[in-house]
Amino acid sequence: MKKITAVAGANIALIKYWGMQNAERVLPANPSISMTLRHCVSHCTVAPQDDPTSDDQVEWLNDAGDLEPAAPMFRDGVLRHIERLRRHTHKSGALRVATTNNFPTGAGIASSASGFGALTVATCAALGWSANPAELSRFARLSGSGSAARSVLGGFVEWPSDPRDPESAARQFAPPDHWPLCDLVAVIDPAHKAVSSLEGHRRAPSSPYYTRRLEVLPDRTRRVRDALLAHDFTHFAQAVEEEAIDLHLIAMSARPPMFYWQPGTVAVLDAVRCLRADGLNACATIDAGPNVHVLCIAAHAGQVQQALTEVPGVRTIIADKVGDGPRFADKHLF
Ligand code: DP6
Repeated sequence: MKKITAVAGANIALIKYWGMQNAERVLPANPSISMTLRHCVSHCTVAPQDDPTSDDQVEWLNDAGDLEPAAPMFRDGVLRHIERLRRHTHKSGALRVATTNNFPTGAGIASSASGFGALTVATCAALGWSANPAELSRFARLSGSGSAARSVLGGFVEWPSDPRDPESAARQFAPPDHWPLCDLVAVIDPAHKAVSSLEGHRRAPSSPYYTRRLEVLPDRTRRVRDALLAHDFTHFAQAVEEEAIDLHLIAMSARPPMFYWQPGTVAVLDAVRCLRADGLNACATIDAGPNVHVLCIAAHAGQVQQALTEVPGVRTIIADKVGDGPRFADKHLF
């Protein structure tokens, strides 16, 4: 076993994973499609402890640059995940894990996806297992953060939902250079969301519109995929925005309801519609949080970013683009 640091990007879902068919095995109720990000990343260092009989240790690198014990819920998820990987690789010995994100955590910018993606890649390598992309994706999924299954791959990714496949894994369907889209994340509120995605998955079926969502999704998924492969921004924007609103329609009509939007969220949605009417190729999508991911073609990114800075409620903008997927780094967190 050796010390390894892995870096994995967050991903933005274009077709959302919202609802599970099997919570224990983290199997999604519907297929999803995402774009892996380049700059919003998690770093994770995993190393054997000097005393292999000691307890595993999980730390978090805070904004001041100091390592501190990880929050209990996150720590427990990490401990379960490294134990799962240790069992699979028939390895023993205590591990030390440290992790950090370079963007707001738990605010609908997929920090769990990149965090558990980086943890999976680093732990597999530290345990001496050269897992292939499908194996990495399956294990990342089992971490509990289903969207982590997509963050261990670069470019444009699909995660199928096949009830007959107990080992569901995501796969890349177009490489990062297929369409150099930008993701300008309009940060309305960087705070941790009040209701977790896990709770969102549980409550989704209680919405009276959920069954209808599952009926229309195959067609919408095909439309997003086809538009993306054809670089057809007009149809891409229509299907992506429809899907973003649909996720929040389900959330808001669930029992009890979940409201992720804030006034700034609606202001950005409006502004993006106006930009499109002015001829710019921009569209919006929102995960489980108030922050809006504004997707646009690279040639229009400067103008779109400038316009977003003037929208009331927008605190900052994180400019991101399509990423290559996980990598290893020489600089360790400890
Ligand atoms: C709305 O269960 O993967 O982002 O563990 O918090 O990453 P985290 O959530 P997860 O659900 C993701 C829900 C979503 C849509 C998506 O990413 O597909």
